[in-house]
Amino acid sequence: MGDSTEFDVVVVGSCNLDLVSTTTRLPSPGETLRAVTYAEHAGGKGLNQAVACARMGARVAFIGCVGNDSAGTMLRELLESEGVDTTQLKTIDAPTGRAFITVDANGENTIVIVAGANAHLGDTAITVPRTKVLLTQLEIPLPVVIDVLTQARLQNSITVLNPAPATPLSHELLSLCDIAVPNETESAALGGTQVLLGVGVTTVITTLGERGAEISNATSTTPIAPYTVDAIDTVGAGDAFVGALCAEIARGTDIHHASEIASIAGALATTVPGAVPSLPQRAAVMSLYAD
Ligand code: RIB
Repeated sequence: MGDSTEFDVVVVGSCNLDLVSTTTRLPSPGETLRAVTYAEHAGGKGLNQAVACARMGARVAFIGCVGNDSAGTMLRELLESEGVDTTQLKTIDAPTGRAFITVDANGENTIVIVAGANAHLGDTAITVPRTKVLLTQLEIPLPVVIDVLTQARLQNSITVLNPAPATPLSHELLSLCDIAVPNETESAALGGTQVLLGVGVTTVITTLGERGAEISNATSTTPIAPYTVDAIDTVGAGDAFVGALCAEIARGTDIHHASEIASIAGALATTVPGAVPSLPQRAAVMSLYAD
């Protein structure tokens, strides 16, 4: 494959149908609550991050797995309508992944995921196409994560891991990542920034919610100021951050400026309900960015 067919970002990850209820508060154990609203959206951390990259202007391919059902058809059509290459989006005879999401009046949420077809992504071989950046997460089998990071390393792509949801990981896996982008919970599950740097991750960008983010490497830690908004729904905000970060890195933006731009993208995503509906276009993000 020649340079003309190189992607900016290849995302390998999950895709789900998000079943989203809003409630006045999150339910307690054993409690039944009435929803205030209900909606279904395309979701999954992999799909969200692929769409986030595309809306930030990147040439994106998504590698994932949907079921042979109406949700799978909807997710495929959504990706294609966003200009994402779906050549390696597999369809198998299993239910498409689901995420059961509850968002309360303060914008707090709980998410339960059912892997469905996502659990079968590694059943047949994956070949990572030429790409500047390879981005993956943890809603797919870990052997697949190791496989695609290894392939990307061999072709000198920049490897980026969003270690979500929080899961302890082997040093073998972490050592394949150039950049890790955990939130605070995910960072703690991995032993913290110093452990990540110690096993060979070059840059750790820890997202801190409404406090912004922090970039750490072997010699320094640099804060990224938050972009302040009135948040109503944080679902997908981390995906907006990671997608924008990777799209900017693929453009050649340095990591500090890419993180500042990603911070704005993440903040904007909290101002709109849902994950995919909230992912911002690059023009909206850059209109708020004073270099
Ligand atoms: O990061 C948000 C995503 O997490 C949702 O879209 C849901 O599908 C879960 O994967």
